[in-house]
Amino acid sequence: MKFAILTGGGDSSGMNAFIRSVVRCSLNIRPETSVWGVIDGWRGLITNEYRRLGKLDVAGIAFQGGTILGTVRVPELATDPELQRQVAFNLDDNHFDYLFVCGGNGSLKACATLDRIIKQEGLRTRIMACPGSIDNDVANNYGTSIGFYSALDRSLEMLEWIRNTASSHRRVYLIGSMGRDSAYLAFYAGIATGAEYIIRPRENVDYEQLATMIEERDRDTRIVVAEGYGKSLEEIRQILEDIFRRRNIKREIRTVDMGYFQRGGQAAVTDILRASWLGYRMVTDAFARKESGFYTAFYTGHWQEPLPLDVAADDSRSNHLDIPEELIKMTLALR
Ligand code: F6P
Repeated sequence: MKFAILTGGGDSSGMNAFIRSVVRCSLNIRPETSVWGVIDGWRGLITNEYRRLGKLDVAGIAFQGGTILGTVRVPELATDPELQRQVAFNLDDNHFDYLFVCGGNGSLKACATLDRIIKQEGLRTRIMACPGSIDNDVANNYGTSIGFYSALDRSLEMLEWIRNTASSHRRVYLIGSMGRDSAYLAFYAGIATGAEYIIRPRENVDYEQLATMIEERDRDTRIVVAEGYGKSLEEIRQILEDIFRRRNIKREIRTVDMGYFQRGGQAAVTDILRASWLGYRMVTDAFARKESGFYTAFYTGHWQEPLPLDVAADDSRSNHLDIPEELIKMTLALR
């Protein structure tokens, strides 16, 4: 059989462990398999750029952040039917039996679209996908995405480092977190470090109350701000400074964005293990000639039946837009 591996969307630590798993499991279980990496994610499927992978090519990469195959965003793939057809036919022309994808929300949608075209046209390739994104915004009713815990590790380190200066100078730090419209990264990082407040996407923040909370807190005050919140760090700072002036609260406010730093660095062991498990599951199912599907797992070794790709790509089934009420209560109780 001939396999292709693709990493899509924003890179996330653990993608390399997924690549290693697919390559090694394929070649160890059936050495006659040929395994190809798609160069630069979805763009490589348009330009037909592939690299044959052997067991030695993936030695020592599981721990490394990023993706050795590269990833380039191609937003037109979501909207351009001609491009979608071209990619579906490219897969067939290259005689790929299976395409294994590790990517985020956008990649999942692309997989579902391609799978539909492939079936309509009677083409050969089947697509198996698993969630890879720091945002944890892919069908997370069923698990967590590869890279999420690595990004949390990074965030926790940074939030602890900034605590030193915040505390030494009695400053308020507004700290930006990636995560797009998902609250998970900011929220979990904030809980873990014991941030004084976490501003969620779409939250209706009571700034007067927030100012009171800051006033009552004498030393370090770290407020984590999710990317999906409607205001920039600077805008939030100005709102708070106006209130501080009016109420004579003598606290200095600084802003800092964790941003791209959250995405890099070594993979968390949970991400390496889950990526390895999902790669193994996909490969063994491919050898059993299973249909296209979305693979996820609560933990390594957890046997979850694959979901149809269009179900996994359906945002209305994902709970990433809302943090459960009980978790919010827990955060308040931890302060
Ligand atoms: O999807 C992952 C993510 O890091 C988001 O949290 C963020 O909004 C986006 O990617 C940034 O993307 P880019 O690397 O294209 O600027």
